Amino acid sequence: MENQEKDRLIASIQRLNRLIILLVFVFILLALYIQFRPKFNLFNREHQAITPYVEQQISPEDSAWRDAMIDTWIAPDLEEIKDPSKKEMLLYGQDLIAHTAKYFGPKGRISKTTNGLNCQNCHLNAGTKPWGNNYANVKYGYPKYRARSGEIESIQKRINDCFERSLNGKAIPNDGKEMKAIIAYMHFLGSNTKKGEAPKGSGIYNLPFLNRAASPENGKLVYDQKCASCHGANGQGQLNPDGIEYAYPAVWGPNSYNQGAGLYRISRLAGYVKYNMPFGVSIETPQLTDEEAWDVAAFINSQEHPTKDISKDWPKIQEKPIDHPFGPFSDQFSEKQHKFGPFKPIKKAKK
Ligand code: HEC
Ligand code: HEC
Repeated sequence: MENQEKDRLIASIQRLNRLIILLVFVFILLALYIQFRPKFNLFNREHQAITPYVEQQISPEDSAWRDAMIDTWIAPDLEEIKDPSKKEMLLYGQDLIAHTAKYFGPKGRISKTTNGLNCQNCHLNAGTKPWGNNYANVKYGYPKYRARSGEIESIQKRINDCFERSLNGKAIPNDGKEMKAIIAYMHFLGSNTKKGEAPKGSGIYNLPFLNRAASPENGKLVYDQKCASCHGANGQGQLNPDGIEYAYPAVWGPNSYNQGAGLYRISRLAGYVKYNMPFGVSIETPQLTDEEAWDVAAFINSQEHPTKDISKDWPKIQEKPIDHPFGPFSDQFSEKQHKFGPFKPIKKAKK
């Protein structure tokens, strides 16, 4: 009798134990779910794509990232190309973009005709990174009218523009193997895009204008804190030990882009920097406020850059972008305001 009762008591204690273990288990699961909820949310892509880190870092008005990762262009994969000769060509094009200096830099094996930058220094991940100045728009983008030259431009001309301005160098032959490989590679990157539709994430992000002029003085503080560790206090960057390519490219001085280059307009530089620098950040994980991005761009473009004869650029001055820093202009605003802003009044006057 006594034994039977004891057995029953033990059995119910065991049942209770199992129940407690079950409850603890359920509780842990619940806690885990709450902790990582955004990642588990299968029904809402927006939340799925955004890491909790970003949500803490970025203020609500700085909302570019909110819808940024939805339907963003993703570059096609070179591994899917099976035809060996086609693949070889594309890999060559990719290498020319990623390691341009090996071929055309001051120690280049084809010619020594550029400042030593790689195309990839500005067209990140060999021109595939969303908002990293990628080439998603190139395949269907050319030939097209460009206000800078006032002409219908071929893709060859556009590529050589970057050789002559961003790489402060010489144009490469239009009919050479290198030009063909670069174009083949860019067209491959655009093979999943549609004519007449700029894919989301292509090119450089257009940062909203500030209500004030960008400040080179503030920008110097940003530069010293967040950029100098790689690009050097003097902006000259750091070559790899082989002396052929940069580990950290020059951002001003004799080996940087010249005054005719796209990045010499601070809207381009600020948009590039905001979602790509310090190196490693993306549209999801920026580390600079918009103000810091504009200011550091103003600072970098106030430092010395090689000159270029751009007297033939913008033949129709009313087509000059409002942040092109050299006159003449079709309005009354000063060169200084065209360089640093505030841009809103200029834009308003243009309408
Ligand atoms: C110093 C930075 C820099 C370097 C280096 C650079 N580019 Fe560019 N490139 C730019 C900028 C800025 C733009 C214009 C982006 C814009 O206005 O949105 C551009 C635009 C282009 C475009 C037009 C893209 C389009 O969507 O229409 C092509 C093509 C291009 N570059 C090719 C090259 C090639 C090839 C190289 C290497 C030989 C190169 N770039 C090196 C900064 C650079
Ligand atoms: C951790 C190192 C690092 C830091 C910090 C860093 N960069 Fe860069 N930056 C790079 C690298 C590396 C590249 C070239 C990327 C490539 O080739 O893939 C680059 C490229 C650039 C370029 C385009 C190429 C050129 O030389 O003109 C600019 C402009 C630039 N960085 C500006 C900045 C600014 C502004 C900051 C600070 C807000 C910054 N970087 C912070 C490593 C860094």
